[in-house]
Amino acid sequence: MASGEADLGPVLGIESSCDETAAAVLDGAGKVLAEILLSQSDHAAYGGVVPEIAARAHLFHLPGLVRDVMDRAGVRFADLGGVAASSGPGLIGGLIVGAGFAKGVALAHRLPFVAVNHLEAHALTARLPGLVEGGAPFPYLLLLVSGGHCQLASVEGVGRHRRLGTTIDDAVGEAFDKVGKLLGLGWPGGPALERLAAAGDPARHPLPRPLLGRPGCDFSFSGLKTAVAQLLARFPPGPLPGQDAADIAASFQTAVAAVLADRAAHAMAMFRDLHPGLDAPLLVVAGGVAANATLRIALARAAEARGFRLVAPPPRLCTDNAVMVAWAGIERLRLGLSDTLDHAPRPRWPLDAPDMTRTAAPASA
Ligand code: KG4
Ligand code: ZN
Repeated sequence: MASGEADLGPVLGIESSCDETAAAVLDGAGKVLAEILLSQSDHAAYGGVVPEIAARAHLFHLPGLVRDVMDRAGVRFADLGGVAASSGPGLIGGLIVGAGFAKGVALAHRLPFVAVNHLEAHALTARLPGLVEGGAPFPYLLLLVSGGHCQLASVEGVGRHRRLGTTIDDAVGEAFDKVGKLLGLGWPGGPALERLAAAGDPARHPLPRPLLGRPGCDFSFSGLKTAVAQLLARFPPGPLPGQDAADIAASFQTAVAAVLADRAAHAMAMFRDLHPGLDAPLLVVAGGVAANATLRIALARAAEARGFRLVAPPPRLCTDNAVMVAWAGIERLRLGLSDTLDHAPRPRWPLDAPDMTRTAAPASA
């Protein structure tokens, strides 16, 4: 049992960095007592998240949602061990709403507040009790694939991340969303594209695989996206027949999975050099795109071939949620780390920023 685990009360987590309004309560050991997630659907008509609409929706829904999640958990505010909220990176309006709300609860009930880095919350999900037999010990190799980020990092502790590679243009989720849009799918494009691809022939269109085989483990997706646009332009104008759309979706998804598996393979070699002697190291995949089954299969193969074990959280914990935020809060609180109430939410907050290793005093007014 980690230090601080025994006496830590339940932790409330709040997620509002993009278009999910979510709250969860975990007990001090990380068991989920209750969770509620509301995916805002108002953005679909615009084909993307509208920051102002998202912020207003968080403001509207969060108070009732937090009350409900506390009721379902059977926990009183005064009995919480802390409050954690995504405080960056993300859309600043939503971050201000969620972090401000969490600070209000912390102040009213004299609780520690944790400003959670949303990327670290994805990164630490693999350590949630029950997900990995024996827990996911540090260090591990992380492939973070979401709507705004695509990177490979060595996760060496809470607040300690060494970046190995990143995208030089688009994030992979962004590529899914843009190709989904080109194919006339709803928002977000990723899940819809995966469903469409299930009926498609992945070998019909040999799409480019950017940076495949190149040294290092950076990513690039804009060329692949352009190739899909050029391919679509070769079809007659008007709605694309279902099978043609499915074949394009499957070809795109297969190209993405091949590229990600190749980049992860390079990162596995880099990780081994950084941590020689580690027995059966872990490759952890996290973020919304990690919900994709074709990608998970490709990564499992790449990991197995290199003596790594793939850890892929259940899809509902890959996409944005508040369980991961509460858990990241617990990880910090166990180490005696919390943030002062003047901690400002940040639209940009890289995993390897110097203040990720911050050691703030317990929260106070
Ligand atoms: O982690 P996440 O929920 O939010 C961010 O922090 O960005 O990731 C959202 C991204 C979106 O781009 C969405 O299209 C993509 O993850 N996504 C998927 C799937 N589910 C979500 N992409 C491919 N296949 C999926 N099944
Ligand atoms: Zn996310």
